[in-house]
Amino acid sequence: MVRDIRTVAEAFRTARGFDSSPLYSHLLTVVVNDETLLELAARTRHGQQPTFALFGAVHYLLLRGAPDPLAEYYPSVVGDRARPVDRHTGPAFTRFCEAYSTPIASLLSTRLVQTNHVQRALVMRLGLALLRRASPAPVCVVEVGCSAGLNLRADRYAFSVGGATFGDRTSPVRIRVEVPEAALLPDLNQLPRIADAIGVDLDPPDLTEDDDRRWLRALIWPENSHQAAQLQAALDVVATDPPRVLRGNAIEIGPDVAATLPHGAPRLVVHTAARIHVPAEQRPAFDTAVAAFGAGGPMLHLALEDDQRTAPSGRPGVGLTATDATGSRTIAVADGHLAWLEPLPAMNDLQLRW
Ligand SMILES: C[S@@+](CC[C@H](N)C(=O)[O-])C[C@H]1O[C@@H](n2cnc3c(N)ncnc32)[C@H](O)[C@@H]1O
Repeated sequence: MVRDIRTVAEAFRTARGFDSSPLYSHLLTVVVNDETLLELAARTRHGQQPTFALFGAVHYLLLRGAPDPLAEYYPSVVGDRARPVDRHTGPAFTRFCEAYSTPIASLLSTRLVQTNHVQRALVMRLGLALLRRASPAPVCVVEVGCSAGLNLRADRYAFSVGGATFGDRTSPVRIRVEVPEAALLPDLNQLPRIADAIGVDLDPPDLTEDDDRRWLRALIWPENSHQAAQLQAALDVVATDPPRVLRGNAIEIGPDVAATLPHGAPRLVVHTAARIHVPAEQRPAFDTAVAAFGAGGPMLHLALEDDQRTAPSGRPGVGLTATDATGSRTIAVADGHLAWLEPLPAMNDLQLRW
């Protein structure tokens, strides 16, 4: 589906979250001012963010070896030799998009924005610890919009949170999150037994396929080598014991998946950076499908989405929302990539009832 290019231009003009990439911060402006690039970006699938999709498609082709001078600006391709942004960067990007318009359009019309950011596994681990504090019972875990399912393995990673370490200290996957007021957090070493871990995704990447792994890599900004290394380590850990990831739209298959969970068993349902990729008119149905997981047992539902909030320290972030038997509340404000998280006292008000 080709989108309205004014909407696409607005997406590039108002894009947030690109601060850690000088290259993409520059290219956002280049695209906004070029009608041909906007028309190309308009080939992005309905509901998907055209910024992530266009930059991901170009990055994917460069990672696959497209021989082009544009590669010189990508540290992910040429390493330390990468050129800083200069007056030739925009023209190089424009020429690349013209030369590779067919494969770019093909990627935009077939691929989804599926960035699987392992740092966000802290949300899963936090949810497990909160449930453990409420009940010793085994827990079923569901991640809606889980991409490759890397965050469903939050019990296999090493965490450094607010200066303390948790989890599997021998894990090659190391997640460091800056947390002031860490005393508000539950004990992240006390987890319940996980009875089942299930992911749901529109198009789960296949961890054994080079192209799918490359697409996940391409969605990480070219300068973010730490995040790329984290992804690689998690892909290797998870490939040895992948969680069950069901293919389908959560709106359609969610209720059937919910019906398979053991009656009365506590369940943790999580979605992070997934609802933002659901077309706006379908979000109420998405919310209904997620709520349906609470019909068969006590549920804690955690969501880290595009809910703009100000953290207690004054920095802008997104709200981490918790929904339990008594309703929804913001229990923390975090950076969207979970570089930091500021817990709120409401973290300790949760009630696991059914
Ligand atoms: C940006 S990724 C986030 C992945 C993971 N939650 C994380 O935080 O690393 C969003 C994922 O949501 C999936 N998705 C979007 N809409 C969906 C829907 N209606 N049902 C199931 N999955 C969906 C996409 O396929 C994609 O893999």
